Amino acid sequence: MHLECIDCGKKRDLATVANTCSCDGLLEIKYDFSEVRFNLEDKKAIPPHVWKYRELLPISGAPISLMEGGTPLYRCKRLEEECGVKELYVKHEGMNPSGSFKDRGMTVGVSRAAELGIKTVACASTGNTSASMAIYAAKARMTALVLLPRGNVALGKVAQALMHGAKVLSVKGNFDDALLLIQRVCAEKGFYLLNSVNPYRLEGQKTIAFETVDQLVEHKSEKAPDRVIVPVGNAGNISAIYKGFQEFRELDVIHDIPMMTGIQASRSAPIVDAFRRGLAQIEPVAEPQTVATAIRIGNPINAPKALRAIRQSNGVAESVTDHEILKAQKDLARLEGIGVEPASAASIAGLRKLAAQGTIDRDETVVCVTTGHLLKDPEAIMKACRPPIEVDANFDALCSTLSELERS
Ligand code: F0G
Repeated sequence: MHLECIDCGKKRDLATVANTCSCDGLLEIKYDFSEVRFNLEDKKAIPPHVWKYRELLPISGAPISLMEGGTPLYRCKRLEEECGVKELYVKHEGMNPSGSFKDRGMTVGVSRAAELGIKTVACASTGNTSASMAIYAAKARMTALVLLPRGNVALGKVAQALMHGAKVLSVKGNFDDALLLIQRVCAEKGFYLLNSVNPYRLEGQKTIAFETVDQLVEHKSEKAPDRVIVPVGNAGNISAIYKGFQEFRELDVIHDIPMMTGIQASRSAPIVDAFRRGLAQIEPVAEPQTVATAIRIGNPINAPKALRAIRQSNGVAESVTDHEILKAQKDLARLEGIGVEPASAASIAGLRKLAAQGTIDRDETVVCVTTGHLLKDPEAIMKACRPPIEVDANFDALCSTLSELERS
């Protein structure tokens, strides 16, 4: 295993603690597959979870784990029929220990920090990264420092970071400002940065691809899905999932890599813009906006990896409006029983839009990744739904309210 720059190709030893190359390019972890023995068949009896695939992860000792991964892959027939695709699945990452996919990356990132003897881990976050880092730092007895953009983090996520004992600072700026600040603080104070620019984070998150393949076999599907749709913010997750599929192809577990399809909120969509215009680099959005606060990001740090993933896999990048996101959130909850936070519903909104445009073919098997749990953002729920109806504590009053409800 070694670290490699995605821009200049320079290699360095895995012992180097760095997230970027001297040329500023992003680093990724590469494996020598001639030395890796991996066969999914041999592991048939083991239920999916992150460490099921440990030969393909860069940690050799006992990991700091809270039983992350192993999230359900639901077949969603009603949405499948509505969108007119062959098979539709939702990989519900909200079912992880802290309620988001970030736990897959944090178990690996914090395990790496433990190997290095780190005392303080740090991140900037739109919420989920901070909640996840806080639970793993607690487990590993590390101090967690998080910077949150003031006023734009969902309540459930702040509550988690606080309860698990993180030092939580609310920055008077947006996520992009907070990320620049935390990078500088980490460089100067020797804290360990656990944003998705850290290649160890992405190693954990690539297991979404491994599990998807593993679970599709249970659904009697012989191969990888044709397309995977992912909400995109700082652009780490789509890059990680692509890397997972690439590695499974190198290992001959699958033959074709799914079309990686990234969905951003329309007023926070620099990657969609760069994709449409064929640009090599993104032009940052100075003041990103969206109700999906998790992906309210104007200058995604992993954009070069994400654009590479989308382009090399013949995928697309598309944007969806806040209205489309909130409608998809409610429909997924009511048609399929799957409760997700607004950012996660971007993948469903994107599916609908791309299916209506004809970009998605009718014979495709599609997997939408829903990244975070419904309860992360209770305020969004209360805005979207009618509040409970008050009723007096007697039988007649209850019956008359029920009759009113039937009539309405
Ligand atoms: N969905 C949810 C629920 C998220 O929390 C995030 C990112 C994404 C999608 C986008 O993933 O950044 O890898 O492209 N949340 C980060 C955070 C930024 O700080 O919690 P990405």
